[in-house]
Amino acid sequence: MSTEQLIFERGAPGRRAATLPTLDIPEQPLDSLIPAAYLRAEPAPLPEVSEIEVVRHYTHLSQRNFGVDQGFYPLGSCTMKYNPKINEDMASLPGFARLHPLEHESMTQGALQLLYELEQYLAEISGMRRVTLQPAAGAHGEITGLMIIKAYHESRGEGHRNIVLIPDGAHGTNPASATLAGYTTVELRSDARGGVDVAHLEEVLAAHDGKIAALMMTNPNTLGLFDENIVEIARRVHEAGGQLYYDGANSNAILGITRAGDMGFDVVHFNLHKTCSTPHGGGGPGAGPVGVAEHLVPFLPGPLPAQTEDGYAWEDAGPLSIGRVRANCGNFLVLVRAYTYIRFNGPDGMRHVSESAVLNANYVMRALQADYDLPYDRECMHEFVFSANRQKKRGATALDIAKRLLDFGIHPPTIYFPLVVPEAMMIEPTETETRETLDTFIAVMRQIAQEAAERPELLLEAPHDTVVGRLDQTLAARKPDLRWHTQPVQTLA
Ligand SMILES: Cc1ncc(COP(=O)(O)O)c(C=O)c1O
Repeated sequence: MSTEQLIFERGAPGRRAATLPTLDIPEQPLDSLIPAAYLRAEPAPLPEVSEIEVVRHYTHLSQRNFGVDQGFYPLGSCTMKYNPKINEDMASLPGFARLHPLEHESMTQGALQLLYELEQYLAEISGMRRVTLQPAAGAHGEITGLMIIKAYHESRGEGHRNIVLIPDGAHGTNPASATLAGYTTVELRSDARGGVDVAHLEEVLAAHDGKIAALMMTNPNTLGLFDENIVEIARRVHEAGGQLYYDGANSNAILGITRAGDMGFDVVHFNLHKTCSTPHGGGGPGAGPVGVAEHLVPFLPGPLPAQTEDGYAWEDAGPLSIGRVRANCGNFLVLVRAYTYIRFNGPDGMRHVSESAVLNANYVMRALQADYDLPYDRECMHEFVFSANRQKKRGATALDIAKRLLDFGIHPPTIYFPLVVPEAMMIEPTETETRETLDTFIAVMRQIAQEAAERPELLLEAPHDTVVGRLDQTLAARKPDLRWHTQPVQTLA
């Protein structure tokens, strides 16, 4: 019998997980309640199982997945931060969890206060004037911020500004959002230190004089490097009439140390799952609040939470607002978690988060620098990028190294991004990992480097110990087969 059958083939006719009390009212024939045309002729062939079988089945399935609660997850750019359990406790409080989004203001004062204060905290953290909490993800924040920039230019009779500048290492959502917002994107080259090439910026600004709507960038950038020229870059873009959009996805490196507003940015989006430890991914609800400088406040989506003489209330958006970008207040329970994280850490704690994230990344980078190529040999911020070029020459690529890590119960780093580094491996340890965990990772990466040099075939066949072996990644992404089959599709040998 295969492992899949052992897992899935459960149950016996008549077995139940629940026992209902005997019916004490007259039984009604089903077709008197539901039209016969909608009734099944035969019962659905569902497994009939006891409670413990159901529990084991789903527990087992959950263990086949990998999460930060299980092991080290240094997935650069994505910041797989530990989600403190106190966030969940707060989000489960019945007063929050059972709140109806259309409940009257007078009945939701606590929730409104939380949203109001969260907006204040995010404004303080980013150096912006006001923040909308509506957007449901980072990329949703990007399109919201770009729509605000567009509305701003249009309000000044400069709707002809149609170009958004984007550095070559940018996250893919940046050009995608700019295109969706109706802009043409122009790529900016990186310089030898990994930052924006200021000379190239000058050329591009001159070539598109009067057409620049915005520069969209993240700092630290996707190489994990802080662009020290940012104030100068901001000055030049502003002089050219453009706005500065800060992709705040990498804020984990700068909390309490510097702020987008102080660097010269006009618009910021947060990825609360990266910066404020809300649950990440899985397609579930997220939050990508957008903060703006004073001159862009009239264009924010509304309503915004406000403090009044009587407490808290929703303040309607003004006539220049781009309008709502999401129903109600956004994903409220995600916002509760972010609020909890900020209150739990406090201002000093938030700074400590970033300092620890940066320290951990530099510790790992320096420890492994002799084993992997480091294309930009500078102090990194919360993440860094190695190249597996050296290993590739011996037959094992970044993908093979990533797969081999799975054998050690470690989630691989992000690979082949950013595109400016060949065979890129983008490592982000995050702030909560212990010295021992980092040392284990370093030891494993050294062992893999040695294996790549001496027995690359071991890496080519990896992973060896996981439930599912090496998949055809393109096929798995493009044609996922998520159905359960009576006959197992893939079994362990
Ligand atoms: C630099 C950067 N920008 C934008 C995004 C998009 O954010 P989201 O996945 O929340 O839409 C990400 C996501 O990883 C990112 O790393």
